[in-house]
Amino acid sequence: MEHSILVDGVIDGRQAARIVRARVKEEVTELRAEGIHPRVAFVRVGEDAASETYVRAKARACGWVGVRSEHIHLPSNTTQQDLFATIDRLNSDNDLDALLVQLPLPDGLGGRQVLNRVAVDKDVDGFHPENLGALVAGCGPLEPCTPSGIMRLIEMLGVDLRGKRALVVGRSVIVGRPMYNLLVRGHATVMCAHRHTPDLASLVAQADVVVVATGVTGLIRGSWIKPGAYVFDVGITRQADGSLAGDVCFDEARGRAAGVTPVPGGIGPMTIAQLLSNTLTCAKLRRGLIERTIHRA
Ligand code: GUN
Repeated sequence: MEHSILVDGVIDGRQAARIVRARVKEEVTELRAEGIHPRVAFVRVGEDAASETYVRAKARACGWVGVRSEHIHLPSNTTQQDLFATIDRLNSDNDLDALLVQLPLPDGLGGRQVLNRVAVDKDVDGFHPENLGALVAGCGPLEPCTPSGIMRLIEMLGVDLRGKRALVVGRSVIVGRPMYNLLVRGHATVMCAHRHTPDLASLVAQADVVVVATGVTGLIRGSWIKPGAYVFDVGITRQADGSLAGDVCFDEARGRAAGVTPVPGGIGPMTIAQLLSNTLTCAKLRRGLIERTIHRA
């Protein structure tokens, strides 16, 4: 019996991530016994402090499961041409399974053009339009790490989305939009709110599942939450006193919600665990060990 990931109304993302990592590690060990040693590269441009922390955390997690990782740090004045050259080199490196470009990028580098440059089969973030399109079609092997990590949490919590209302707050390409589609695929009735949505409180009050990814600290008040709902807080913002805070008022939400993810220790560790799982998928895809088209129900 796996340790419960729900303790006193708090969803333990660190524990859930340990469970995912243990499965990934087993598979990596099997692949290594066959001479396949998965390898991922992280490209970071400029001096964003949070990005540096995230990339270090990703590299550390790779070490835990036996995945090789490489951190390529380019200076802030890198041109788009230089960044493309780096991506092209990694795309054609036959010993490399997966790569990602850490976001945000410095202004002027053209975020979308950069993400489009990553080889589809090495796109461990699932941000390439072909992978995002396949996600909408329900047939892709590579899905963005944060939304797929949240779907795994929902599964581990034993929540059946059939007949449930879900609300996604935020419509970013990396979280909100893929999240919306995964929840619909899971048979929830889904709404997506964003900065132009009036009366957010009344939408939150109707939702059995709430996913919040806005970067607005404390946007969601506990009193708005439907008693017994599950709340997933993707936001993580550094406060003036150095602490980290989410988009949900955690102390208010806890006790009212059936489960709420803390910040830190909620969605972050699951995102990284899912990145490891996707790296494994990339390693298998490139060797024809799994199909490019998944036939989902
Ligand atoms: N920045 C914030 N989240 C992410 C992510 O999931 N992937 C990348 N590449 N950058 C990010």
